This record gives sequence, C-alpha cells and structure tokens, in this order.
Amino acid sequence: MIRIGTPLSASATKVLFLGAGELGKEVVVELQRLGVETIACDRYANAPAMHVAHRFHVIDMQDPLAIRAVIQLERPHYIVPEIEAIATDELVRLESENAATVIPTAQATRLTMNREGIRRLAAEDLGHRTSQYAFASSAAELQRAAAKIGFPVFIKPVMSSSGKGQSRVESASGITAAWDHALAAGRGREMRVIVEGAVEFDFEITLLTVRHAAGTDFCAPIGHRQVNGDYVESWQPQAMSEAALHDARRIAASVTDALGGFGVFGVELFVRDDEVWFSEVSPRPHDTGLVTLASQRQSEFGLHARAILGLPVDPTLTRPGASAVIYGKLDAEGVSFDGLDNALSVPETDLRLFGKPVAYQKRRMGVAMATGETVEEARARARECASRVVVVDEKST
Ligand SMILES: Nc1ncnc2c1ncn2[C@@H]1O[C@H](COP(=O)(O)OP(=O)(O)OP(=O)(O)O)[C@@H](O)[C@H]1O
Ligand SMILES: [Mg+2]
Repeated sequence: MIRIGTPLSASATKVLFLGAGELGKEVVVELQRLGVETIACDRYANAPAMHVAHRFHVIDMQDPLAIRAVIQLERPHYIVPEIEAIATDELVRLESENAATVIPTAQATRLTMNREGIRRLAAEDLGHRTSQYAFASSAAELQRAAAKIGFPVFIKPVMSSSGKGQSRVESASGITAAWDHALAAGRGREMRVIVEGAVEFDFEITLLTVRHAAGTDFCAPIGHRQVNGDYVESWQPQAMSEAALHDARRIAASVTDALGGFGVFGVELFVRDDEVWFSEVSPRPHDTGLVTLASQRQSEFGLHARAILGLPVDPTLTRPGASAVIYGKLDAEGVSFDGLDNALSVPETDLRLFGKPVAYQKRRMGVAMATGETVEEARARARECASRVVVVDEKST
C-alpha cells in the first residue's frame, strides 16, 4: 500500500533534490501534482526546480557536511540526485544510517559519477560490448594507451559530464592538448581520463529504462544528435532492427539491475546494424528524454516520480515526437524570450522555458517539443518552433 501525506503537514511525504535544473523541475512538477512536499537544492539561487518546489536551499553539493546538514534539517523520505557532481560518499553513509532512500541507490549514484566505475561494471563484470578503452593518470600514460587503442580516440575526464573536457583526437600529436583540456575541466581531486576507441556507429540512442515496484519497463528508443558533447535535438522512436532493439533492452536491463533501486535510467547506446555498444548510463532522467514530454503518455519525469513513490508506470509512446534545444545565444542576466506566439503557431508544438537567471551563449535555456505523423515531421516542427524563439537582453535594447 502506497500512502502519500499532506504537504507542509506532519504527514507530508518529502522529496529533496540535489541539483535543481530543468530535468529536476519537471520531476518536481509531477510530484507536486501528487501532493508530495518538495525541496530543491543547488549551488545557486533561483535554479529552475527552485521555482516550483515548496522551498529551496543554496548549498555546495560537493561538500559532505553541507549535504548532511540539509538532510538533518529537512528529514526527507527520498533524496533525488539530479546531477552527477555530488559528494556521493556522503550519500552512501546517509543511506547506511537509514536517513533517507537515495534514488535509485547511493551506490548507483557513486558508481555512475565515475566513468571508470560504470565502464568496468558494464564491460568487465557484465561482459557487454563497449568501445575499446583504457585509463590514464598522466599525459605519458595517455599517449601510450591511445597508441595501443589506435586513432581516432575519445578522451574524457573520468569525472565530468555534458562533454566537458572531452576531445576527439586524430593522431599522437593531439594528445598533449587533449590532456590539458581534460585537466582544465575535470572535477574531483584525482586527474584521470578514460581514452576510448571511436565506435563507428550508424546512430546512437538513449534507452530510457524504468525500474519500478512491479518490474522493469522500457520507453521507445530515443535518437539524438550531439554537438561538442551536448545534445541539440532528439526524437522518438528511433527506427532500429528487431535484433538491435532486443539487444539494447537486454543490455539496459542487465546494467540497471546491477545498479538497482527505483527510478528512470538513461542508458546510452551506440548502434550499427544489429550490433549494440554500451556507452554510459545516467541513474536519472536524461536530457535527450525531454522529447517524452510530448511523445509519451507519461513523460520520463512522470515515470521517475511514480517509480520513486512505488506507483505503477505507463511508458506508452502515444505519437512520434521530437525536441530541439533553445540556447541562450548571448551572455546576459534576466533575458526575455520573444516570438513565442510565432513559435507556438507551428502545429503540435509545445515549449519549456526553464527560467534560468543567467543566460550564456551555449547554455540550454529552453526546449521546443513537437509531435507529428512521422518522426521526420516532428523533428522539422520542433526545430522550426525552437528557431522562432528569440532570446533578447532588454537592458541592451
Ligand atoms: N567511443 C566513442 N565513439 C564514438 N563516439 C563517441 C564515443 N564516446 C563519445 N562519443 C560521442 O560523444 C558524445 C558524448 O559522449 P559521452 O556521452 O561519453 O559524454 P558525456 O560528457 O557524458 O555527455 P552527456 O553528459 O551529454 O551524456 C556521445 O553521445 C557520442 O556522440
Ligand atoms: Mg553521454
């Protein structure tokens, strides 16, 4: 029996978010609809999810003492990590003290924040196909590892996300620059990189996988396009062979079973013909899954909220859909968005404007979603809708 109390009363069911970005904002909205009390934390004030949560705290989420203090203050039932860069060792301690349930589990958040942990689990323990890889803790070690794998290679800090510190290197002469680039962007005390052989895939997908009280379900595969490690466009469903889809689900089930807990996982896979490579996994909703706000009966955010609470989920695709990112395109505080009437006059479209207090050229400020008869139609509509949104800085006009 699942029971939810009354928010802001002694019976409240409380969920605390570590990270309050646009993905967390949508999960908070879903929880609000179910009468759950929500608390959003991030390193800056007025982050997207803070606009819709019952209250918020500005804390350094890499500081274990700060995390412990906010958990002791708020006493949430659930802790939902929304980003990777968190003091996950402290989450492991808090979970072992039964302070709260970490979603999906504290160990899963710890393992997946480090590319070495998750890669060794998927490739070495579970035996899934991945790119060739090695780890290096110096430029010299990296040079040797890359030569052994063979160029081109991808080089990524083991602790980083959204393409930060990543390079694709074509030959030995590019290694020093790639090492310096990784150093500049890496987080965590130890500087270590993964070097991966390039997988010549036909396309890449995110397979959203929901672990919930009654089992594991999969969303239809999401195709996406990445520019400099950042997603710019996604669509659902991505057409693929039966054999590849079967293998993708098998890999996703195996990896998410090993991580355990309840919630949505974004399993990133590369596909060529019937062959599937595991790339990485987020133990939380995935940015490319923003498309599900338009294409599914329950979006990945609704699925996450329900799975966390132990409720039944329904990941049915209702119509082919697509999403297109809206970037800041300028550096300014308190920007405005123009042309919204024009943008939303594109058929079957919808918009999310995240409310981030500061815009940067390459900061994701919003997203356009669309549906259509076909994925191609949905993609064209989402792109058209996004392109009609104009970010303006009123102070300079
Ligand atoms: N070994 C590889 N072979 C081919 N392409 C790769 C490889 N590694 C990464 N890529 C490309 O770079 C993109 C980003 O890589 P990856 O997902 O590992 O980084 P990330 O920083 O975690 O990105 P994000 O946080 O946006 O998921 C991939 O989606 C893929 O397009
Ligand atoms: Mg990725």
